[in-house]
Amino acid sequence: MQTATISFDKFNQLQDDDCHLRIRAARDRLGREVVLLCHHYQRADVYQYADLTGDSLKLSRLASQTDSRLIVFCGVHFMAEVADIMSKPEQIAILPDLAAGCSMADMANLAKVERCWRELAEVLAVEQEVTPVTYINSAADLKAFCGEHGGIVCTSSNAGTIAEWAFARRAKILFFPDQHLGRWTGFKMGIPLDEMMVWDPDLEMGGLTAGQIRRARLLLWKGHCSVHQMFQPAHILRFRNQHPDGLVIAHPECSFEVCRQSDFVGSTEHIVRTIKDAKANTRWLVGTELNLVNRLAEEVRHEGKIVQFMAPTVCMCSTMQRIDPQHLAWTLENLADGTIVNQIQVPEHERQLAKLALERMLAVS
Ligand code: 13P
Ligand code: SF4
Repeated sequence: MQTATISFDKFNQLQDDDCHLRIRAARDRLGREVVLLCHHYQRADVYQYADLTGDSLKLSRLASQTDSRLIVFCGVHFMAEVADIMSKPEQIAILPDLAAGCSMADMANLAKVERCWRELAEVLAVEQEVTPVTYINSAADLKAFCGEHGGIVCTSSNAGTIAEWAFARRAKILFFPDQHLGRWTGFKMGIPLDEMMVWDPDLEMGGLTAGQIRRARLLLWKGHCSVHQMFQPAHILRFRNQHPDGLVIAHPECSFEVCRQSDFVGSTEHIVRTIKDAKANTRWLVGTELNLVNRLAEEVRHEGKIVQFMAPTVCMCSTMQRIDPQHLAWTLENLADGTIVNQIQVPEHERQLAKLALERMLAVS
């Protein structure tokens, strides 16, 4: 039976210990009706409750495979949207704090992408020449745009395969919203840097001439991740000077120079796997979010592996950090009482088209 929503105010001031007691009690009441999906960047005091963890690709697959009626997503908004799109109609996706967005995803919106598409159509036969590819870090309506225009979604772990899929169909790619993942992907495919042009959505024609647009094979949306932009080549240089045998691994949302100077580049899952599978007593410099790096450092310490964070300053995904024990306790207690809070529901017409673009991705990767 549904009861009145318990207000968050009661949980806001709750001590962490009380939150943990209430989280455990609510989970016991919910049993297998609820599943907690957690991204690798989730803070430790929430990550400990994860049933399933992974990078964006793995989590989107898991969301399509779970049978629990309630999917509580400890991540950011676009991830919960993907869970809603990929799950069965009777399943419910929930984001414990609706303010947990992704600042990179917010750097592209439908109005700007549609304007870009119209402007490209002034120079190109856009539907025949350009495949729109959206990074999974984007709103559902942008995934729907890709579904509608013969495009596809990619993640940091399959971007190369997806780009090959796209180039097999049309000569050019419009890649949004992360220019860095797009550039690194193009570079790894052997596309010269001068055939990759940055499209600035705040300028007419993206700030490009018709000639530049015709020459470009990859049009890179001018977006970035505020966390990964903090990592600098100078951090790698300092590490290499101090530890000539050390190894460097970075997420492809880092700048081109950071990726180029790293020994390995890959998704969060790839970073975790590479370091866990590495030889004992190795030393690593890691360019990705701090919660992941701290957890990994703890997990591999007993093998004599040393894992260091790339930047000298704290770089956390402040939006993902918003999912704290207070929000999780509030969410689970409401659910256990039969009240759905913070449901993420993509409108049906968008859902169908976004699903098409996501299913193309899952079929290819
Ligand atoms: P992954 O898919 O590699 O987990 O990346 C998601 C993300 O938002 C990284 O900033
Ligand atoms: Fe978005 Fe960056 Fe946070 Fe990843 S780390 S979720 S790209 S803001």
